[in-house]
Amino acid sequence: MALLFGAFYLLSRYATHCTWVTSEAYSSPSIVLAARGAHGNRVIFDDYREAYFWLRQNTPSDAKVMSWWDYGYQITAMGNRTVIVDNNTWNNTHIATVGRAMSSFEDEAYEIIRSLDVDYVLVVFGGVTGYSSDDINKFLWMVRIGGGVFPVIKEPDYLVNGEYRVDKGAAPKMLNCLMYKLSYYRFGEMMTEYGKPPG
Ligand SMILES: *[C@@H]1O[C@H](CO)[C@@H](O)[C@H](O)[C@H]1NC(C)=O
Ligand SMILES: *[C@@H]1O[C@H](CO)[C@@H](O)[C@H](O)[C@H]1NC(C)=O
Ligand SMILES: *[C@@H]1O[C@H](CO)[C@@H](O)[C@H](O)[C@H]1NC(C)=O
Repeated sequence: MALLFGAFYLLSRYATHCTWVTSEAYSSPSIVLAARGAHGNRVIFDDYREAYFWLRQNTPSDAKVMSWWDYGYQITAMGNRTVIVDNNTWNNTHIATVGRAMSSFEDEAYEIIRSLDVDYVLVVFGGVTGYSSDDINKFLWMVRIGGGVFPVIKEPDYLVNGEYRVDKGAAPKMLNCLMYKLSYYRFGEMMTEYGKPPG
């Protein structure tokens, strides 16, 4: 009996151990982000999947979604919606058009978006959780790629003394472009850290 219980105990510990190793070491798909909380506990950010399921459940099934191409496949697969560009887009003009729309003033962007027959624009913003690979971080590439095809977009317009900033000292073109407006929409009302002003 002792031997049997001993073996059972070891095997059940082994199963627990395997579950732990799987969850720690093997489950980090790039659409689910994990972070450590203040007490060493694991925090899971499942926002990408939730956003794609929101699209799937709340938008008309023939809706077209415009986003930067990084998210194209994920929107197609998980959101079941048509996208403008994805990682298989070979025609650089299409990618540049999206970059141009994101870097234009809202009224100009509206015209471009209408001509593409787009219903929704998806941007990824990490300012609340401190996620640094968001669209504001990739934004200079949208400007560069857009400017490569459409010379009306000029990279220096978005920089201040060659520096990329998103605070109140940012370039006026930067503060009024579609990407900035969508990302920081009503962010000034938001409490991000206690004891600090909002925004
Ligand atoms: C995906 O969308 C199409 C219409 O655009 C619809 O016919 C199809 O059933 C949808 N697939 C799933 C799995 O929801
Ligand atoms: C895009 O495709 C290339 C090759 O087909 C691949 O190496 C790369 O990882 C892909 N990027 C994304 C963001 O899916
Ligand atoms: C890329 O797309 C643009 C606009 O749709 C089109 O005018 C151009 O011919 C395309 N280029 C290629 C190489 O397919």
